[in-house]
Amino acid sequence: MKNILVTGGAGFIGSNFIRFILRQEPDIQVVNLDKLTYAGRMENLQDLPDPQRHIFVKGDVCDRDLVQRLLRQHRIDTIVHFAAETHVDRSISAPDQFIQTNVIGTHTLLEAARAYWLEEGGPGETSVRFHHVSTDEVYGDLRPGEPAWTEETPYDPSSPYSASKAASDHLVRAYGRTYQMPYTITNCTNNYGPYQFPEKLIPLMLINMVAGKPLPVYGDGGQIRDWLYVEDHCEAIWRVLRRGTPGETYNIGGNNQPTNLAVVQTLCDIADELLHDSPHAPHAQLITYVKDRPGHDRRYAMDITKIRTQLGWEPRQSLESGLLATFKWYLEHAEWVSQINRQADFQNWLELNYTKRTP
Ligand code: NAD
Ligand code: DAU
Repeated sequence: MKNILVTGGAGFIGSNFIRFILRQEPDIQVVNLDKLTYAGRMENLQDLPDPQRHIFVKGDVCDRDLVQRLLRQHRIDTIVHFAAETHVDRSISAPDQFIQTNVIGTHTLLEAARAYWLEEGGPGETSVRFHHVSTDEVYGDLRPGEPAWTEETPYDPSSPYSASKAASDHLVRAYGRTYQMPYTITNCTNNYGPYQFPEKLIPLMLINMVAGKPLPVYGDGGQIRDWLYVEDHCEAIWRVLRRGTPGETYNIGGNNQPTNLAVVQTLCDIADELLHDSPHAPHAQLITYVKDRPGHDRRYAMDITKIRTQLGWEPRQSLESGLLATFKWYLEHAEWVSQINRQADFQNWLELNYTKRTP
């Protein structure tokens, strides 16, 4: 690996990944293609180590000419595809853009990569690799007592978001099987940590706690997710890029399965500790139950035996230490939060998803 094309590198995980790679790999140059949607922010890229090895290009993964030009111009050997529409609730209220970016965008990228790979030698040429970053949500919804998902579990997505990610995974595998294009896929559980856009559960709860606003828990709060600190996810992807086998899929997860309510309660406890003078303490009094998300998956759990035994990867951060670090990061980056709070799009989203939520 010398020249990596990262798509969606101004978003949450992509920007953490670029920071991780620049720190970890002194000889790698990163080209970052990002459309800068509401979720993509140049502020996420401000403190990069060795920033001269990072080239930012504002553009759309659906723009095949642009992608092909970047692949050639920068002699890209590895594509790491993060770019996506990612918020399940937004996919329920407005699915079109999810199909466009997640399905058409992935297909466009695959076509551009295939043309470039053919120029480089085609079948048998393994120096060009497509890595697709996907989600555990493609596997669907686990009933109580059902075993955790393995890489062999059949897909059964529930939301427009997870269906669009499942479609993109299928396309990547089809390109591997049909054209022998070298690829790897990772399916990861819920991430949290610095730079996560505060539409997602953990950062939304953090900023609402600080502001003394209600903490909106969907349904009964008994849904279960598996949480992974973002830097652990970055390290897992890096391991797969370094040592993973082309044509293989690796599940990634945090080895914990708390209910949403338990996560929110833990965050309230941290807030009580860190913000003990706050007029809003005890923060658990802010918890408010709201109407459930339509089609809400009840339980996720990931079996990470394959990546652990084959690539030696395990999460480093526990949920407790990761939540504390994340809380402190958001407190120390109040200006980053304020900039998002001032965005009309974000306020409109809060209005649509919370204020106008039918009881
Ligand atoms: P994010 O929403 O924070 O960032 C997405 C980034 O993609 C943004 O910078 C956005 O500007 C960019 N983007 C969107 N459409 C684009 C387009 N058409 N062309 C170019 N760039 C575009 O997302 P995230 O949470 O960092 O997720 C990154 C990837 O990881 C996604 O593919 C997601 O499905 C996957 N994933 C996320 C999680 C999670 O918990 N956040 C877990 C597992 C997998
Ligand atoms: O599992 C991986 C997926 O995790 C990623 O692929 C997605 O991109 C990412 O958005 C995330 O999806 P979720 O829907 O699980 O994340 P979210 O943070 O939106 O919600 C987490 C849980 O919390 C979910 O059960 C819904 C609930 N929730 C969420 C919000 C925003 C609430 O109860 N209240 C809220 O206000």
